Parts: sequence; structure tokens; C-alpha cells
Amino acid sequence: MTATRVVLLGAPGAGKGTQAARLVKRLGVPHVSTGDMLRAAVAAGTELGQKAKAVMEVGALVGDDIVIALAGERLREQDAAGGFVLDGYPRTEAQAEALDRLLEELGTPLDCCLVIAVDGEAVVRRLMGRAEVEGRSDDNEETIRERMRVYDDQTAPLLDYYRGSKLLREVDGMGSVDEVFGRIEEALA
Ligand code: AP5
Ligand code: MG
Repeated sequence: MTATRVVLLGAPGAGKGTQAARLVKRLGVPHVSTGDMLRAAVAAGTELGQKAKAVMEVGALVGDDIVIALAGERLREQDAAGGFVLDGYPRTEAQAEALDRLLEELGTPLDCCLVIAVDGEAVVRRLMGRAEVEGRSDDNEETIRERMRVYDDQTAPLLDYYRGSKLLREVDGMGSVDEVFGRIEEALA
């Protein structure tokens, strides 16, 4: 696999976190998930966490300024200099533009935006399953549906954004975790 700076895009439950965990082992780069960073801030009760908690619980997006600063700080760290897998960021056009500006400044442009395409009803079932295992506070049916609506409304337009810069690759996210990872390996080959 030649790509080292990868964005994973996909609806809630598409398998971004699951596939990112495998991909970072293969590529030897850090896994950068804004969702994980925000949940850590909520758990630690920081000022950022207090602001983000209510927004995340209803399935809305945390403000661009906050998330852009959070991701930017992380991507400037030394371990991300050789690449990264971004999971759940960018999620709006403003975030995508901010990422482009940052990577331009660092002289390390993005290699690929990989979209994991899934069937909406199947992912609702996946996330209801995860709710029983992990107990994430936004994994209830009402919030899951709102996260999906927000994805269609604010994040799906990024497919065109990355198509425009010829970075977009799409993989079928249905099937087993191994099958999907195999498709990701092919797409990045
Ligand atoms: P975030 O944490 O990014 O959540 P999400 O996009 O809703 O995605 P999920 O983590 O639910 O799904 P996933 O695609 O990672 O799937 P997973 O691998 O876990 O964001 C949470 C919130 O934080 C947002 O709503 C927002 O409020 C805020 N936020 C985060 N980033 C932000 C940003 N950039 N801007 C603004 N706000 C932001 O898989 C799901 C389940 O399915 C698991 O149980 C898994 O084991 C299972 N599974 C995975 N693959 C398969 C498979 N192939 N077959 C069967 N089961 C599978
Ligand atoms: Mg995730």
C-alpha cells in the first residue's frame, strides 16, 4: 500500500473505526479519530468535553472551530508527520478546506479519501448491537437516525469535494470485516 495520508469517510456505523484500527497497523501510522478524542474529553470533564457532551448526545456536529483546532493540533504532532488515518474528520466542507490548508502548510498533501459505502438499515442494526456491548451514549435509535441524517446533509457532499480533487475511492462496506479490509487493501494498492 502506497498511501499513508488517508481520510476514511462513511456514515455512522460504516466501520470507520473498525477498519482504521486494522489499517494503521498495516501502514504504521497513527489512528486519528475526532469522535474518540471528543469522547475522551467528555470522560475527562474538560471544558471542551463539557461543551461537546450535549451536542454529541443528540447526534449533531460539534462546531467546526472546535474540531478544526482539535484535529489540527493532533496532526501537527511528530508521530503524524509520516502519515495518518483520519476517522470521522473532516465532516463538513469547512473542515475539509481547513485540512487542505494545514496539509499544504506542512507540505504533505492527502493521498486518498476512502469512502466506506453501506446500507442505512444494516448500520442501524450494527449500532444497536454495539450499544449493548459498549454503551456509547449516542447509540440509541433516535440519535443514530439523527447522526445518519446529519451525515447525508453535511458530510456526504464531501464525496464530490474529494471527487473533484481526484482523491476519492469507494469501497463496499457490506460483508465481513475481513472482506471489507481486503477491498480497502485493493483500493489503496
Ligand atoms: P464518531 O465517533 O465519528 O461516530 P460516527 O461517525 O457516528 O461513527 P461510529 O463510530 O458510530 O461508526 P464507525 O463508522 O466508526 O463504525 P464502527 O467501526 O464503530 O462521532 C461521534 C460524534 O462526535 C458525532 O456525532 C459528533 O457529535 C462528534 N464528532 C466527531 N467528529 C466530528 C467532527 N469532525 N466534526 C463535528 N463533530 C464531530 O462499527 C460500528 C459497529 O459495527 C461496531 O460494533 C463494529 O464492531 C460493527 N462492525 C464494523 N464493521 C462491521 C462489518 N463489516 N460487519 C459487521 N459488523 C461490523
Ligand atoms: Mg467510529
